[in-house]
Amino acid sequence: MVINMREQLAELKERALAAIENADSIKSLEDVKVAFLGKKGELTTVLKQMGKLTAEERPVIGQIANQVREEFENTYSVKINDLKNSDILKRLETEKIDITLPGTRLKSCSRHPLNIVLDEIKEIFTSMGYTMVYGPEVEETRYVFDLLNTPEGHPARDEQDTFYIDDKTILRTQTSSVQIRTMMSQKPPIAVISPGRVYRCDEVDSTHSPIFHQCEGLVVDKGLTFGDLKGTLETFFKRLYGNDIKLRFRPHQFPYTEPSAEVDLSCFKCGGKGCRFCKGEGWIEMLGCGMVHPQVLRNCGVEPEEYTSFAFGMGIERITLMRYEIDDMRLLYENDMRFLRQF
Ligand code: DAH
Repeated sequence: MVINMREQLAELKERALAAIENADSIKSLEDVKVAFLGKKGELTTVLKQMGKLTAEERPVIGQIANQVREEFENTYSVKINDLKNSDILKRLETEKIDITLPGTRLKSCSRHPLNIVLDEIKEIFTSMGYTMVYGPEVEETRYVFDLLNTPEGHPARDEQDTFYIDDKTILRTQTSSVQIRTMMSQKPPIAVISPGRVYRCDEVDSTHSPIFHQCEGLVVDKGLTFGDLKGTLETFFKRLYGNDIKLRFRPHQFPYTEPSAEVDLSCFKCGGKGCRFCKGEGWIEMLGCGMVHPQVLRNCGVEPEEYTSFAFGMGIERITLMRYEIDDMRLLYENDMRFLRQF
């Protein structure tokens, strides 16, 4: 029995080592391992016969079997390294990379003109001590209208009444809603701007879009006057457009300010003489503003006997068109690279 198994093991070893030697790929080498050491492998099968040996024979054969396994594994690991190395060499030879070929060039990008201008607006106002606040675009009608002194049935609501989600929820038509949210959540003194997207039922043309951007401003403090509002807006526009720009405050009516004004700027194309761009007027309407109505302050829990407040809301598109002398708003939305790359 012992002699028989000794011979079997010796023969097995010869064959296994030869098979390792002859394997010409990692796959076939692995197959050899399974055939020899696997659950149903040849060595395993031989070892299963150990039970038939006597107690003295078993350790002798066990030792031989271990030596066979060890030799197999050593030879196997040398061979598998050889195969891996030659694989790499083969790939190096066949998969040549021509490093002199030109690579794929990354197109350089530029910021969108609306963002450039918005950043300038933020920069100017933050340097004057304002902070930024934001409000939701899907907004409750009370913040967009009611608390801004514009109850249901008010004519000013008609012009903007649009894009309802349900009876009490609307895509905001103005950033003035953020004034209310701010006064309700912060104690005066307050100085904030709030840029963001707004929605209107407007047809697209060279000066209108159903989605556009506004920047709201709100200051609440003791003793503020219309003079503070004028000074603030003059400082802002002179920093944005240069000292030659002129502002004109025209009386107007907004339900949430008293007094209210619209502000025109002297036309950037003709400097005020009148041209196609300003429709012969010499002035371009830029924003709405005024002293916040005492009732609006009261609505938000601010005492109008103690505090006064001014507010303004400007269209960022309009400011951008004027900043870059662009004569059609649609260019801002068309994503034409020939246009966008110029900024
Ligand atoms: N909300 C106005 C609009 O969309 C602009 C405006 C006017 C904002 C007067 C204000 C304001 O804060 O006081 O045309």
